[in-house]
Amino acid sequence: TYPEMEERVWEIKQKLGKKLFIPGHHYQKDEVMKFADAAGDSLQLAQVSSINKQADYIVFCGVHFMAETADILTGDHQKVILPDMRAGCSMADMADIYQTERAWVLLQEMFGDTILPLTYVNSTAAIKAFVGKNGGATVTSSNAHAMVEWALTQKERILFLPDQHLGRNTAFDLGIPLDKMAVWDPQVNTLIYEGDAEDIKVILWKGHCSVHENFTVANVHEVRAKHPQMKIIVHPECRREVVEISDLNGSTKYIIDTIEKAEPGSSWAIGTEMNLVKRLIDKHKDKQIISLNPNMCPCLTMNRIDLPHLLWSLERIEEGKPVNQIVVDKDTSDNAMLALQRMLDRA
Ligand code: 13P
Ligand code: SF4
Repeated sequence: TYPEMEERVWEIKQKLGKKLFIPGHHYQKDEVMKFADAAGDSLQLAQVSSINKQADYIVFCGVHFMAETADILTGDHQKVILPDMRAGCSMADMADIYQTERAWVLLQEMFGDTILPLTYVNSTAAIKAFVGKNGGATVTSSNAHAMVEWALTQKERILFLPDQHLGRNTAFDLGIPLDKMAVWDPQVNTLIYEGDAEDIKVILWKGHCSVHENFTVANVHEVRAKHPQMKIIVHPECRREVVEISDLNGSTKYIIDTIEKAEPGSSWAIGTEMNLVKRLIDKHKDKQIISLNPNMCPCLTMNRIDLPHLLWSLERIEEGKPVNQIVVDKDTSDNAMLALQRMLDRA
């Protein structure tokens, strides 16, 4: 039963003490988050993983790319475990290394050595390594502005992988007009743009988050019609047209901080992952909070990490036969580290 499983998790946590560290992303289920030693967005989890030197086992409650990042940032003696190997990310799957290398060759033919690659941390270790090797950096939603600004001081233009929406929203906020942005479609190896190729400052990889793309302009209009006083706050993984007509947009951490600081009695429609929205509703009973899309599903891959999988992975550690270890090979790890370090130095 669930109570019995919970009791076992507490028992193992107590037994392993500081040898075990459980980071949990804000989009994880409550049944898992209650056991997290650190809760955070992807930047915070990257930072806590990089400073933890004590834990032998890091049981990562998040998705595969986050566990890979943790493996890159932690020491050789530390094992990173993902409680369910099926916890991937559909956005990260939208850019593979072969497509990226192919795109790079074609883009270099078009633009010469004028492009700096940046990748959202929501990408495979191989893509982070590619970016690191080519002088670029990783970004997260909470430092994307600073990182894009920095990148454009290094080269004339950037290639932003794999989330076109975060890239477009960030560049637009920095004053780059939409007609200076192009979209690279990896399915057909084609750059789509209007105007003059020479003017392009930002090349956006055609990827997206299947959770945040579910928030629509119609959702915004419905909320405005029903609750005119309500403020609308969305994650920058949402489409440009949704971000444009919302009141505020920002990373997971920004959304949490904004709701935290909001006046009692204020009302909010939130456009981000459902587990987090539910938690904010439960925590802030003095504020009226709804999801921007009432039919919203949680991130299904994040949700694969549940109490039974967490317990299963902890029990295997307890018996000295850990499973589901995430290992990034040394060469990939060293190059990916270059990209991560350029971000952590500026974050
Ligand atoms: P952040 O945690 O950087 O806001 O990213 C959101 C997300 O979609 C994580 O998968
Ligand atoms: Fe990937 Fe979107 Fe889920 Fe985050 S919320 S893990 S970006 S699919």
